[in-house]
Amino acid sequence: MAPPAYRDRVRYVEAGGVRLSVIGLGTWQFGSRAWGYGADYALGEARAITRRALELGINVVDTAEAYARGRSEKIVGRAVAPDREHAFLATKFTPLVPTPNVVERHAAASAFRLGVSTIDLYQLHWPNPLYPLARTMDGFRRVLDSGLAAHVGLSNCSLETWWEAEAQLGRPLLSNQVRYNLLDRRPEEAMLSWAAAKGRVVIAYSPLAQGVLSGRYRPGRRPGGLRALSPAGSDEGLRRVQPVVAALEAVGHRYGATPSQVALAWTVRAGGVVAIPGASSVAQLEQNAAAADLVLDEEDDARLDAASRAFVPLRAGPAALAGSVSGLARNALADRLGRGPTAG
Ligand SMILES: NC(=O)c1ccc[n+]([C@@H]2O[C@H](COP(=O)([O-])OP(=O)(O)OC[C@H]3O[C@@H](n4cnc5c(N)ncnc54)[C@H](OP(=O)(O)O)[C@@H]3O)[C@@H](O)[C@H]2O)c1
Repeated sequence: MAPPAYRDRVRYVEAGGVRLSVIGLGTWQFGSRAWGYGADYALGEARAITRRALELGINVVDTAEAYARGRSEKIVGRAVAPDREHAFLATKFTPLVPTPNVVERHAAASAFRLGVSTIDLYQLHWPNPLYPLARTMDGFRRVLDSGLAAHVGLSNCSLETWWEAEAQLGRPLLSNQVRYNLLDRRPEEAMLSWAAAKGRVVIAYSPLAQGVLSGRYRPGRRPGGLRALSPAGSDEGLRRVQPVVAALEAVGHRYGATPSQVALAWTVRAGGVVAIPGASSVAQLEQNAAAADLVLDEEDDARLDAASRAFVPLRAGPAALAGSVSGLARNALADRLGRGPTAG
C-alpha cells in the first residue's frame, strides 16, 4: 500500500475549549547539545521543522525554559511568529524554587523568549516534593489571572497529584505531560480514562522512546548523546526492544507505514491523548504528522499489545551502567564545551 497521504490538517482533540492536533511537536532537541544535532540544526533545521509542522496543521508545539537554557523557547518563538494564531504554544516552568512570585516571573520570561503576550499552556515541569503544591498553584493562578497564560497544566505528575493540584488551584489543569509509549504504559492504569472522561488531555512525551521505537537503533548500533546514558540505549536495552520493533515493522507493512508512524498511531489511539515527538529532520516531522491519519485495527492492536506486554525493561544496574560509560564520556565532553544535558 502507498504511504498514508499527507493531509492539510491533521486529526485534533478538543478539550477545555481548545483544539489540539493529536500529533504535536516536541522541541527539547532545539539548541540542546545533549542531543548532539549540531549548530546547523539549531540555526536552520529546527526552524524549518517548526514551520513545516504548522503548514501541516500541527498546532501543539512543546518547549520548556529548561531546554537549552531557554534557547529552545527562543527558536520556537521566532519560527512560529508569522503564524502565531495557528500555534498552541506550551512551555514549562522549572520548579526549583516554585514560590508564587518566582512562578509569575518565570512565566513572564518564557513569554518574552517566545515573543508572545500569552502562553497557551503553562506547565509545571515536575512536582517539587519539598515545596507545598498549594503555594505553587497560587503562582499558577496568578499567571492565569494576569493573562500570562491561557491554560495551565502539569508534567510528570501522578493522577493523585493532578487531582490535588486542581483542588488547590480551584480550576481545571488542562493537561498532564507524561512519558507514554509502547515501552512505558503506566498512564493507562487510570490517568487516560479519567482525562478522557473529564475533558482533560494527556500529553505523551517520548512517544518513540527517544527514537528507539523507530527501528533505527539495534545492539551494536546505539544512539549517541544523552540517549547513550539511558538503559534503553545500551546494547542490552536495545536487544530487549527488538521484538517490539519487529511488531511495529510487521504492522507497518500492512499500511506502507514506518515503525515510528505505527508507534505514534498506537500512542494516540485513545481519545484525549496528544503525542509530541521530537524530530531531527523535516522528513521525520512529515512522517510523524502523517501518522495522525493512520488508524490501527484490532488485529494490529493485539499484535502490538502482546509485544509490548512481553517487553521487560532494563533497569539501571551494572549492565546498563557499563553500557552507558561511553555515553557518559560523551556527555561530560558536551558539559565541558559549555552546555551539559538539559532536563527532558
Ligand atoms: N515533560 C518532560 O519531562 C519531558 C521529557 C522528555 C521529553 N519531553 C518532550 O517530549 C518531546 C518528545 O520526547 P523525546 O524527544 O524525549 O523523544 P521522542 O519524541 O520519542 O524521540 C525523538 C527522536 O526520535 C527520532 N525520530 C523522530 N521522528 C522519527 C521518525 N519519523 N523516524 C525515525 N526516527 C524519528 C529522532 O531522533 P534521531 O533521528 O536522532 O534518532 C528524534 O529526535 C521532547 O522534545 C520534549 O518536548 C518532555
